[in-house]
Amino acid sequence: MTARIWILALFPVMLAGCNGFQNAMGGDGAESANFVSLFKLFMVVCTVMYFIIVAAMAVAIWRRRKSALTVDDRRHHETSHLVTPVLFGWTGLIVVGLTALTVASFLTDRSNAASAMKPALHLTVTANQWWWDVRYEQPDVSTTVRTANELHLPVDTPVHVTLKSTDVIHSFWIPNLAGKQDLIPGRMTDVQLLPRKTGLYRGQCAEFCGIQHTQMALDVTVESKTDFERWYSSQLATAKPPATPLQLAGLRYFTTRECSACHNIGGTPAGGQVAPDLTHFASRRSIAAGAMPMNKGNLYGWIADPQSLKPGSHMPTVGLEPSELHALVAYLETLK
Ligand code: CUA
Repeated sequence: MTARIWILALFPVMLAGCNGFQNAMGGDGAESANFVSLFKLFMVVCTVMYFIIVAAMAVAIWRRRKSALTVDDRRHHETSHLVTPVLFGWTGLIVVGLTALTVASFLTDRSNAASAMKPALHLTVTANQWWWDVRYEQPDVSTTVRTANELHLPVDTPVHVTLKSTDVIHSFWIPNLAGKQDLIPGRMTDVQLLPRKTGLYRGQCAEFCGIQHTQMALDVTVESKTDFERWYSSQLATAKPPATPLQLAGLRYFTTRECSACHNIGGTPAGGQVAPDLTHFASRRSIAAGAMPMNKGNLYGWIADPQSLKPGSHMPTVGLEPSELHALVAYLETLK
């Protein structure tokens, strides 16, 4: 009984979770909007069917109560004339209902496929335990942009995303924009996105992929084409040189110690490729694939002891002197 009360009390809280930036009923992308319409159609048809069944059952019970006849009597006399129309009516209803839902599903599928026929943008997203490597592909590699754990997308522009994985199966899911797609090691899959509304959304890995599966999020920004162009050209630039002695000490530490073996910072000797590219790290909304918001305090915490904040993550805890930590944070904060 107590459990039932708790579930009822928690229901509004659970519903409150289904809003805003991570909402499969958001309909902010072409595919998601199609799914929402299809879902509503299924709801209406199934609700109507449900009430017809309940009404038929209520009538049957009411008639049975009213009559003094036994079940056998009724079968042979009173109800025999109803059997054929009920049978035909009911079968007809099922056939019409199921056919309508099948046709609607087919049309939705076709519409989704057609909406992204001519992509204007090609991305490759590679899943890693537990972060996303994002690459904006261009015929001219000098204009390719690499970032991590974030997507910037121009509104009303069809985007083709090639999906890969370096380790285990993950799943790419931005509920507001489109359905899920698995990322499978050794295989390429893909997904089409056509965002219809500007805004900030959240993507989430939707396939259990290890201890930090829940902290494998993706910050998605859908913006006007002008804002997207501005963002894109800012990402093409290499990192600004340090402006203060403290920042310079941070850069020195980064490029001569452990950090540069894994991370890349464009325009510096740090060229590691197995961890998130940090060239424009400080311009992102979050740290460690959505594990915490981007701010000075979290940056200190994350660099000082990543294993306490995201246990199992491949970012090791390096014993840093306080002066080294200050310098690193000061330098990383310049990477806008
Ligand atoms: Cu990656 Cu779950």
